[in-house]
Amino acid sequence: MRFYTTSVGKKIVMAISGFIVFGFVVIHLVGNLQIFFGPETLNRYAEMLQGLGGALWLFRALLLLSIVLHIVAATQVTLQSWQARPKGYAVTRYRTTSYAARTMRWGGPLIALFVVYHILHLTTGGLHPRPAGFISQAGGTINVYNNVVYGFQIWWTSALYIIAILALCLHLYHGVSSMMQSVGLNHPRWNQWRRFAAVFFSLFVAAAGVSIPLAVLLGLVQPV
Ligand code: HEM
Repeated sequence: MRFYTTSVGKKIVMAISGFIVFGFVVIHLVGNLQIFFGPETLNRYAEMLQGLGGALWLFRALLLLSIVLHIVAATQVTLQSWQARPKGYAVTRYRTTSYAARTMRWGGPLIALFVVYHILHLTTGGLHPRPAGFISQAGGTINVYNNVVYGFQIWWTSALYIIAILALCLHLYHGVSSMMQSVGLNHPRWNQWRRFAAVFFSLFVAAAGVSIPLAVLLGLVQPV
């Protein structure tokens, strides 16, 4: 707990929890790209996940804990830095920080809101106007493929996803690099690898996440 009270401690907690959430997002998107192989492939994958039973709930608990720790540590680091400089500068000059670094503080809450919306949209099916053919997971029958396609046929839903995924791409661009720095990969020899990992993973998330709603809107992926 003493270690956590330091700002380095909080950054380590952000790095580890961020790594777990980041790992989930990459695996989740790789899994969802199976939509391009047709309904059987995606639905079989979804059924396999549901079949994990207790292990799935254990993983969900770990994911939720990581998201909560990440948000709490990020909020505390932000408040600490505001307290250290309560008045702000007369003129804001950005010297070393990138655009992605400056967007972390509004990007994070936007992504958190997106995740809540996304679960209500595709996992529970509540809150959202249900498109014809939407089958709730609670109803027992799993047709994740149709749920995704019907969901993204609504243009503004796809637009919300695309905006959130682009915000996530910026967040990861800075986050992956900071995460590696926080765990000590800060040697000049590592810098180009840090930059490479940040560009590679953030572009992968953007391409994979945008390709699915876009393919549905363009009619390349149809309901069955
Ligand atoms: C176009 C991109 C995406 C698609 C097509 C997609 C699809 C899905 C689907 C179909 C589910 C429900 C699975 C089920 O209940 O069987 C789901 C759940 C979920 N998604 Fe996504 N997703 C996308 C992007 C994202 C992103 C970017 C994040 C995180 C930032 C995310 C986080 C989650 C979470 C946390 C769950 C709940 C997992 C669980 O209940 O075990 N998704 N997604």
